[in-house]
Amino acid sequence: MENKLKEPFMPPIDRVDGKLKVTGAAKYSAEYNIPQMAYGVMVGSSIAKGIILSMDTKAAENAPGVLGVITPFNIEKPAGYNIETSGNISATKKGFNVFDDKLIRFSGQPIAIVMADSYERALHAATLIKVNYKKDSFQTNLEKAIPVVKPLEGNAFKDYTRGDVNAWKTAPVKIEAEYNIPIEVHNPMELHAITVHWETPDKVLVYEKTQSLMDTQEKIMELFGLKKENVHIITKFIGGAFGSAFNVWPHAVAALIGAKQINKPLKVVLSRDQMFMNVGYRPQSIQKISIGAQPDGKITGINHEAISMTASYQEFTEGIVNVSRMLYDIPNVFTRYKIYPMDLSLPTWMRGPGETTGAYALECAIDELAHALKMDPLKLRLLNYSDTDLEKQRPYSSKYLKEAFEIGSEKIGWNDRHPEPRSMPEGDWLAGYGMGSGVFIGWRGGAQVGARFTADGKLLLQSAVTDMGPGTATAMTKLAAETFGISPDKIVFEMGDSSLPPGIMQGGSGTTSSLGTTVNNATLSLKKKLFELVKNKAVFHTETIHDVKFEDVVFENGQMMLSSDHTRKMSYSDILESAGLDNIEFIEETKGFNNVDYSTYAYAAHFVKVLVHPATGVIKMEKIVSAVDGGTIVNDKTARSQIIGGVVGGIGMALMEEGVVDNRYGRWVNNNFADYHVPVNADVPHIEALFVNKPDPILNPMGSKGIGEVAMVGFAAAVANAVFHATGKRIRALPITPDKII
Ligand code: MOS
Repeated sequence: MENKLKEPFMPPIDRVDGKLKVTGAAKYSAEYNIPQMAYGVMVGSSIAKGIILSMDTKAAENAPGVLGVITPFNIEKPAGYNIETSGNISATKKGFNVFDDKLIRFSGQPIAIVMADSYERALHAATLIKVNYKKDSFQTNLEKAIPVVKPLEGNAFKDYTRGDVNAWKTAPVKIEAEYNIPIEVHNPMELHAITVHWETPDKVLVYEKTQSLMDTQEKIMELFGLKKENVHIITKFIGGAFGSAFNVWPHAVAALIGAKQINKPLKVVLSRDQMFMNVGYRPQSIQKISIGAQPDGKITGINHEAISMTASYQEFTEGIVNVSRMLYDIPNVFTRYKIYPMDLSLPTWMRGPGETTGAYALECAIDELAHALKMDPLKLRLLNYSDTDLEKQRPYSSKYLKEAFEIGSEKIGWNDRHPEPRSMPEGDWLAGYGMGSGVFIGWRGGAQVGARFTADGKLLLQSAVTDMGPGTATAMTKLAAETFGISPDKIVFEMGDSSLPPGIMQGGSGTTSSLGTTVNNATLSLKKKLFELVKNKAVFHTETIHDVKFEDVVFENGQMMLSSDHTRKMSYSDILESAGLDNIEFIEETKGFNNVDYSTYAYAAHFVKVLVHPATGVIKMEKIVSAVDGGTIVNDKTARSQIIGGVVGGIGMALMEEGVVDNRYGRWVNNNFADYHVPVNADVPHIEALFVNKPDPILNPMGSKGIGEVAMVGFAAAVANAVFHATGKRIRALPITPDKII
């Protein structure tokens, strides 16, 4: 591929939107105010399952400032609710349309939206609604559901077998263990919020927190039977999402319906407690892993079985067991994945969905095996390193996990680790070193980017994508500057608006790969267009070059010049001027890429040092080194920030995060930041994020692989393994809280 990033790379750049963010000038979806705007408050069910018999909304309707109350009893259903789904669609695939019927599927299910002229008045009126329910029995306890509830069936739940499923059992050294991860909740800083403005009855402007402008637009088009150009979505900034902002969630649909019904602009912001049951979560999981090995450490077989949950009304699956099929060179593999429908709200993708869950169990089990073998865990991993993808029977497009192991282990001082658990006291504390590896698929989808280069030397790039924090506009600016040969401050990357050329969702660690390819191709097109304008000019013709080819020129510092003679050059502005043009404008489009000859994965090698206080069970993260193979790193500064963010999520997963549901009521217990703990500054040590930074030759012209998710995959295992090394205590149920240590 042409237009490759060349060493030496341009130095990393600061966040292009950094100032806007830290000064409060960046506008989030709840911060748009429209004249005459009303405020909506969602009312949730107080029972977990049953039927609403009646609702008394009179007091709410008559409360001061109230403009309307919508419930299942008075909703004007959007056209999309009535689209017939095929008769044999299973209950768990039907989904849930807000206010569509009187069934209650989970505690906190939205049953009304109250709209008023102020937020406070809406909030007050919402407390005045009285509901009569007929309660049904329900199940929110996964352990109790397993023997009595039928797991879902279908292709996603077929067992995977490679070789002999019993190989692990007959091995001379084996381990068997069960790992538990509770529900975890994304809890981004920014609350989910939507501001809706119906400009005409069939034209709507929506400010919505979304990771996918295009999918949100399409969903709203379908729901209300609207034309594409009449559904305008704006998401200029996102204050974190981690996967919670793909779906058009019930509160957003309620806001769209409500604004239409009261014929006023309407803003709905979920409260923190509502965030726990209305915008997804990482489902609870129970995983069993069995591994068998030869005394020399060669693994002969692995079984990995995972049980997890979804909502009774909609299927959600993720690849929990997939890591065990490909991370190691194991001839005999069996995996099984079952999910149970529960009377809870819908889970969804959360950073490293599937892999984060699966790698926790796998990477703990590998550590347990290392201990059983009396072998260094890093050595064991190297001994069973896979050089090809045994599951898909094909080579990797690139794999530099070994290199990540090397730089990571060196930086943390792995060689000074005494292998015996509890062998490294430091004063009153027990020190422990642990490691875990992470893997996440690399891919690339199609995207369009609008490009306009003007005679004043500025480049405007536009695409309908959003940025939940990684710094997409920054990476794209850096990439365009580097490949087009102009300074980054001459470039504006505009995004966050569905009316721009259709981009790609932000998720699956695929934005930079997908969008970057299109940006890369756009600058290449631009260079070719400039070349065509002036290739016949005398300045580019020498005694030896009469017919100058594109390959004969380079583009640097805003100038096109002959490779062989840099004095023969023209500035980009002069090229436009000489052609009598004010600008060059076009839309670049690239299709998705599905290479069937190679498997592409990004890798992480996480190394941690913990200090455990044996008397109180307090765990301090002392040192963290995460070394990542993410291919070529497009912008080092924002990329490191991605790794740091993923690691902080991993600290939460390992030590703090646990969604608690009271199974007597099917209701959340700790749906607030006082009781649901996430890491704060004091919990987070200096995090060393290192990159192998070698290009992947296949996936995209930058040579990059996604890094957003792999940053978190395998990290919690590193912590659990370090705690074992420190204390000799193997804690398999997350989070590892002090009570489990003492
Ligand atoms: Mo990510 S779970 O694709 O936001």
